[in-house]
Amino acid sequence: MSPTLKSNGYQSGFGNEFASEAIPGTLPVGRNSPQRVAHGLYAEQISGTAFTAPRHQNRRTWMYRIRPAAMHGGFVAHHHPDFHNDFGAGPVPPDQLRWSPLPLPGTDPAAAAVDFIDGLFTMAGNGSPAAMAGVGIHLYAANRDMIGRFFYDADAELLIVPQQGRLKIDTELGVIEIEPHEIAVIPRGIRFRVSLPDGVARGYVCENFGAFLRLPDLGPIGSNGLANPRDFLTPNAAFEDVEGAALGQDFELIGKFQGHLWRATIDHSPLDVVGWHGNHAPYKYDLRRFNTIGSISYDHPDPSIFLVLSSPTDSPGVGNLDFVIFPPRILAMENTFRPPWFHRNIASEFMGLVHGAYDAKADGFAPGGCSIHNCMTGHGPDASTFEKASNSDTSKPDYIRDTMAFMFETRATLRPTQQALDAAHRQRDYQQCWAGLRKHFMS
Ligand SMILES: [Fe+2]
Repeated sequence: MSPTLKSNGYQSGFGNEFASEAIPGTLPVGRNSPQRVAHGLYAEQISGTAFTAPRHQNRRTWMYRIRPAAMHGGFVAHHHPDFHNDFGAGPVPPDQLRWSPLPLPGTDPAAAAVDFIDGLFTMAGNGSPAAMAGVGIHLYAANRDMIGRFFYDADAELLIVPQQGRLKIDTELGVIEIEPHEIAVIPRGIRFRVSLPDGVARGYVCENFGAFLRLPDLGPIGSNGLANPRDFLTPNAAFEDVEGAALGQDFELIGKFQGHLWRATIDHSPLDVVGWHGNHAPYKYDLRRFNTIGSISYDHPDPSIFLVLSSPTDSPGVGNLDFVIFPPRILAMENTFRPPWFHRNIASEFMGLVHGAYDAKADGFAPGGCSIHNCMTGHGPDASTFEKASNSDTSKPDYIRDTMAFMFETRATLRPTQQALDAAHRQRDYQQCWAGLRKHFMS
């Protein structure tokens, strides 16, 4: 079955009480679960937070659908050795770690066609779905649409960051189409299917096991700036009424539950929500709309000034997951070392590159690549970047135009998976990028 769902456009805003119906008159008026729903639909609620979560943090959505989500066969274990939450219990090397891009499937003639789910490769993580804290960080590289297959993640909210190729994400609540420089967030439990308009796709996925991502408070920045709420887009309702039997095949529903994948047959498309209202809903955001803020005198602010979305913890100001970007910007600080400084942090950092070059690394950090700098592991500009920046003319601004780097920053140590440490695309000589930093000190 080829994906047929058509986008019905988007609604603007972040965490609003959205409402949308693909057929007029679907949404009940004055109650959520009337005795009979219009058009013979079923009413069903999905809760993304505790029922009694404070109102401004409460997330739930009412769906009016052709069949309830309960209707599918029994689950059996689904084997996918590369996509998991097994972050190990043994020692974690404190080395700086970096990887070249995950090879695209299809470049090897012997490689089989892989869809978005097949193409997931787990790099690192911390915490666990059971604890509802931590993150799982994955790469994907795919070359075929999800055909007759739907997926949901009971363990996590998914933050999807494409690096190459567009994604068409057909969800229960409507269609999200994204390209590199855009991101999508799929809430916990929402079922979806991914197709690849460009034939191949590669990028990054962060599973957020903790509290849902939200916009940061702006403090003294004021009421505007960073990611503006109206630039977040949630899809309008779109549905398909498709029976597997009519196509001579059952479909499969893949669920991720407690770190493992499970598969059930389903005889109809679960993308059958005709209307819905609520705020537990997927959204997309164009990183090029980020209002980047920085210093106009001297020094850098901390990278938290580039925070797009944050999953908070119970500790004020401490993130389970902070999604930070390093977009095009103008550096005007005088008498300042303009690239990011050398540093060690209590937080742990996974970095990726969507486009162009990152201003702290002259080479080796390619679009599609990634790095991990864990708690208290020293890192910063490589030797050639240091030399160049130390001698640049800071009376004139630097225009950093051609870049889009990002960071998944977490409070807990990122534990690289064994498959990531053993991977052929790991750069085992990464530390050499600092070997050329000369001793300048003279007593
Ligand atoms: Fe860093």
